[in-house]
Amino acid sequence: MQLVRRSASDNAEAAHRAAETTSAAQADIVLDVRHVSVEYASASSAVRAVDDVSFALARGQILGLAGESGSGKTTLANAIARLLRPPARVVQGEVLYSPRPEKAAGTREATTAPVDVLALTPDELRAFRWRRLSMVFQSAMNSLNPVLDIGAQIDDVLQAHAPSMSRKSRQERAVELLQLVGIAPDRLHSFPHELSGGMRQRAAIAIALALDPELIIMDEPTTALDVVVQREILAEITDLRDRLGFSVIFITHDLSLLLEIADRVAIMYAGRIVESATSAELHAQPRHPYTYGLLHSFPKVPGQRITLTGIPGSPPDLRALPSGCAFHPRCAFAFDVCRSASPELLPSACGTRSVACHLYDDPDSASSPVIDLSNPKPRDVPSEASAGTAPTGDPQ
Ligand SMILES: Nc1ncnc2c1ncn2[C@@H]1O[C@H](COP(=O)(O)OP(=O)(O)O)[C@@H](O)[C@H]1O
Ligand code: SF4
Ligand SMILES: [Mg+2]
Repeated sequence: MQLVRRSASDNAEAAHRAAETTSAAQADIVLDVRHVSVEYASASSAVRAVDDVSFALARGQILGLAGESGSGKTTLANAIARLLRPPARVVQGEVLYSPRPEKAAGTREATTAPVDVLALTPDELRAFRWRRLSMVFQSAMNSLNPVLDIGAQIDDVLQAHAPSMSRKSRQERAVELLQLVGIAPDRLHSFPHELSGGMRQRAAIAIALALDPELIIMDEPTTALDVVVQREILAEITDLRDRLGFSVIFITHDLSLLLEIADRVAIMYAGRIVESATSAELHAQPRHPYTYGLLHSFPKVPGQRITLTGIPGSPPDLRALPSGCAFHPRCAFAFDVCRSASPELLPSACGTRSVACHLYDDPDSASSPVIDLSNPKPRDVPSEASAGTAPTGDPQ
């Protein structure tokens, strides 16, 4: 196979950013994540859990982050929200946040110019959290305070971040928030243990919405819930987004579920984004063999039946990543160059999607891919590890 290698030149960078933003209101980007890398330090070495990740999030957009456990999703989310604690450290990158004009008006900065979240002072960070960005975690039982009722927890956030609000206004706002997420107001004085799992997660979303943030990061918010409640919460999130206009970074290992809720999806593997596209594009034709594997790892609730094939092997140990493409020991399409050169995330000619895979190094195939991922045909010598490895079918 003849390879036409494109270097990480400024041109490729510009094209990549264009691909990230064309599909969703180019001018209206709320978060621009640029070249973020995060390491966990240990006594002997440092493990790079997030490696040179860039993406742009448009206002009102739901961006899904998917990947197996250990691919770096939570580390990336915590880096964006400035929640990382040692031994984790952001070693490079910027997280540029652009407030919408009405949010900026009347604030100290009173500007819509982007600010680098990673450079905020502790005081600026306190003002940024909840008002601009809030988070919903996997287990509401862990993030909610077990000894305070839901009303008191909403009140705490309002009191701390909107000190000018009167007690009466805070109470009214608490009732309004519960109604927004479908909880009856008479639950205001319920404690977390008195609510079902779904209601606790709704309460966590209500608290996250308290100060009308522009961006909410949801890290596996429905993973602990049964499938029916999971879908109710997903419908609630999209409905709230439509009504309130916030943006969401929605993290899950379940790609099929993500395609139902997200406008765009970025797939992470070993700390890197390996494919990024609209949900419709990924659903119609995943390009990265790993994306294909993820899509064939979970049953779809609605839609046509698919054969679940899973992904052979397990995610790599970040302390000893395979050479070249980190996915090559598990990839049925691996060929020589995959074992020596790491593929760059490059945009396709259509401008809305990017993929990091040597199968698309040839610009012609990038513009009109004809690779049938259901039918691996090794190009050179098959990868030793991928040959004969049984699919696990369990991407967690
Ligand atoms: N507290 C920690 N100390 C050291 N390494 C960690 C720690 N937390 C996560 N990691 C490393 O970061 C990688 C990514 O973890 P994480 O961001 O939690 O992945 P995900 O959310 O995709 O499951 C893990 O595979 C692990 O190697
Ligand atoms: S074909 Fe090569 S570059 Fe593409 S995913 Fe497989 S191993 Fe990686
Ligand atoms: Mg996680």
